[in-house]
Amino acid sequence: MFERPIAPSLLAADFSRLREEVQCAEYSGADWLHLDIMDGNFVPNISFGPAVVKSLRPHTGLPFDVQLMVAFPGACVDAFAEAGANRITVHVEGEHGQPDLRHLLHGIRERGCKVGLAINPETPLAHAEPFFADIDLLLIMTVHPGFGGQAFIPETVEKIEAAFVRRAATGLAFHIEIDGGVNHETAAMGLLAGADVLVSGTALFHAPDMALAIRELRALPARNETALHR
Ligand code: DX5
Repeated sequence: MFERPIAPSLLAADFSRLREEVQCAEYSGADWLHLDIMDGNFVPNISFGPAVVKSLRPHTGLPFDVQLMVAFPGACVDAFAEAGANRITVHVEGEHGQPDLRHLLHGIRERGCKVGLAINPETPLAHAEPFFADIDLLLIMTVHPGFGGQAFIPETVEKIEAAFVRRAATGLAFHIEIDGGVNHETAAMGLLAGADVLVSGTALFHAPDMALAIRELRALPARNETALHR
């Protein structure tokens, strides 16, 4: 496993040829595949569900990094775990469907998946902090979730830095993942602030050469060169 995983986001792929797109990501050197699950309720867009995830599972060895942007995440964790998710991330904002977020996080782990917690640009880091000991990954959204192809919100850099500092202070070892408008320039900002997982959709799936684009991301300097191996 690479020290700083790069996760192409399938949302930016050509949906008419998903299998080829996933395999292209794998052959191009991706570490994980990021899968955005949107229900048209928590976010104003609908993407795909567990049946699509399950149908792709036999065609790649890439770990599936599933982000649930849904109103009732607790109702679908089982379905995505069974479909082959390796990591499942839920939003700290999704209070309607998760009266007990810690219980939900533990439920993900009990299903044999790594546990992620996502936080939207306008949500203070303090909302996620009580759960730091329960997670393997903190996903800091660098756009408002819902659509690919948006511009990275520069104000989120401060939150990445704060998360890096808080993680060091607590001695915990969760990944700090960024997602939204991540390209060569914004990835550099995120990595220097302390991110160690890059999710990128448009900048990878729309690149003329995904392998080159991944190599360029991998060559960027990061804040923590001794970051975790997971
Ligand atoms: C927003 C999505 C996107 C996607 C990445 O909800 O989560 O951020 O994964 O797509 P790009 O890289 O195009 O922003």
